[in-house]
Amino acid sequence: MKTIHLICAARPNFMKIAPLYHALKKEKWCNPKIVHTGQHYDYQMSQAFFNDFGLPPAHYYLNVGSGTHAEQTAQTMIAYEKVCLEASKPDLVVVVGDVNATLACSIAAKKIHLPVAHLEAGLRSFDRTMPEEINRVVTDSISDYFWTPSEDADENLKKEGIHSDHIHLVGNIMIDTYCMMKDKIGASGAYKSFGFQKKACIVLTLHRPANVDVKETLENVIHKIGEIDLSIIFPVHPRTRKNLEHIQPLPQNLILCEPLGYIDFMNLVSNSAYVISDSGGIQEETTYLGIPCFTLRDTTERPITVTIGSNQLVSVENLLDKIKYPKAGSIPPLWDGKTSERIVRSIKEILQ
Ligand code: UD1
Repeated sequence: MKTIHLICAARPNFMKIAPLYHALKKEKWCNPKIVHTGQHYDYQMSQAFFNDFGLPPAHYYLNVGSGTHAEQTAQTMIAYEKVCLEASKPDLVVVVGDVNATLACSIAAKKIHLPVAHLEAGLRSFDRTMPEEINRVVTDSISDYFWTPSEDADENLKKEGIHSDHIHLVGNIMIDTYCMMKDKIGASGAYKSFGFQKKACIVLTLHRPANVDVKETLENVIHKIGEIDLSIIFPVHPRTRKNLEHIQPLPQNLILCEPLGYIDFMNLVSNSAYVISDSGGIQEETTYLGIPCFTLRDTTERPITVTIGSNQLVSVENLLDKIKYPKAGSIPPLWDGKTSERIVRSIKEILQ
């Protein structure tokens, strides 16, 4: 029986491990174990997702919590190394995305000679002021197996010297999650409970340090968005909350709420006119749904959402012009809900 660790830490990770956990659980030859580092710990940032996705409690919970990047990364390395040495030695470590745990657990594992596979490998914003870009580059420089969502990611990895034998274009795991949850998302009354008509509201999310950590920058963004002539539902990330509290008055069309679970959030997105966000994953989900997305960033590590999909990069200055021209786009190859099946086949080849 092969032991596979699925590492998760923060909100965007839970939707990436969920379909893979369920797919691996059906196999007789392996035993998937969830390792939650505890980077996100608020109920609405963590447990709500375990509930939505029908995941069991994490097999190993590292309780790392908040801290500076170095603190969080170091604590995660120490705690995860202990799990591997003292509690459960995995045959394969699967890290996902680009959060601090992705970096920390891949380093801890490689230093004790454990094989590491990176799910969502090869994405690059080419902006090294983003903590996630450092996490992506370092993780990919030491991983053994690379599961990518799109061809641009394959090309980035090859340019960095990764042999193509180790790169598997598997598609986008987040689309598996959406397909798995589609019926529940459709049945959720979230947009109605906010009193919205279909396609008559905007969903806003903001949490990138570059947009929210400086009060004046956040204030500028919020006031610009406030000029839009539609209701805007804004589930507020804990990182954003701190500076938002000092911005008074807030625009009248802005409806603040706590972070939402996956099902309610996706119900709102699916029924929105468009989305304004600085998230990574939302660029992909909106592309799949054909919902226009305006991403408040200079760069994206997911260029396919712009070239093929419904995503556009915008700035505070040009936002009001750009939203006049939403685009529908189409769905990139292999974003078909079968990515976890392809990963299971890849793991079988690796381990058998
Ligand atoms: C992290 C990821 C980012 C991802 C995002 C999704 C890194 C470097 N960043 O950023 O890639 O897009 O998650 O949400 O890994 N906090 C709470 N409760 C929680 C979690 C956090 O109050 O449950 C607070 C923390 O104390 C901290 C702030 O929110 O002050 C930011 O949390 P942190 O986990 O450091 O990074 P995120 O900005 O969430």
